[in-house]
Amino acid sequence: MKNLFPIISNLSFIGLMLWLGILLFTQFGLPKNHAQLNDKNISLGTENSVKLSPIVRKGKLLFKSNCASCHATNMRTKLTGPALRNVRSKWKDYPEEDLYAWIRNSSLLIEKEHPRAVAIYLEYNKTPMTSFPNLTEEEITSILAYTEFPPK
Ligand code: HEC
Repeated sequence: MKNLFPIISNLSFIGLMLWLGILLFTQFGLPKNHAQLNDKNISLGTENSVKLSPIVRKGKLLFKSNCASCHATNMRTKLTGPALRNVRSKWKDYPEEDLYAWIRNSSLLIEKEHPRAVAIYLEYNKTPMTSFPNLTEEEITSILAYTEFPPK
């Protein structure tokens, strides 16, 4: 019995350490991981963490299927066409219909020598933009809402 004692006490020491380890991990390890996850969500800070309103969601879908081949989805990089972030503000000196008319048929507006239309056309070396005569007013409004998301 006396010879067994050191073995038993060693075993219980190991057990105690294991138990302490588990306790420390669950008490301090997990919450830290959760905090890191939350930080990551916050730093993504855009579409992924902010709930899209129905109109913006619709605009996003329309944008992806009709416009994203030439206009960057991040709205900030120039591709074949210009970055569209807050494009409405670039047309603010003209009636709102003009921007809608541009999206439906840009060449018509260029023919009429609309100043913004001609300027952006020349800036992009006369690259023709696809016409979208079938987009409804509501659809264009939702695409424009998406170009203004998230609001800053
Ligand atoms: C085939 C490529 C292409 C597609 C597809 C396209 N665009 Fe464009 N877009 C352009 C180009 C190029 C320009 C620059 C003007 C020019 O050269 O005609 C432009 C310019 C614009 C402008 C004017 C930007 C400014 O700064 O005034 C708007 C607004 C616009 N596009 C919206 C759209 C929307 C909305 C869609 C989808 C419904 C779309 N475009 C699809 C190529 C495209």
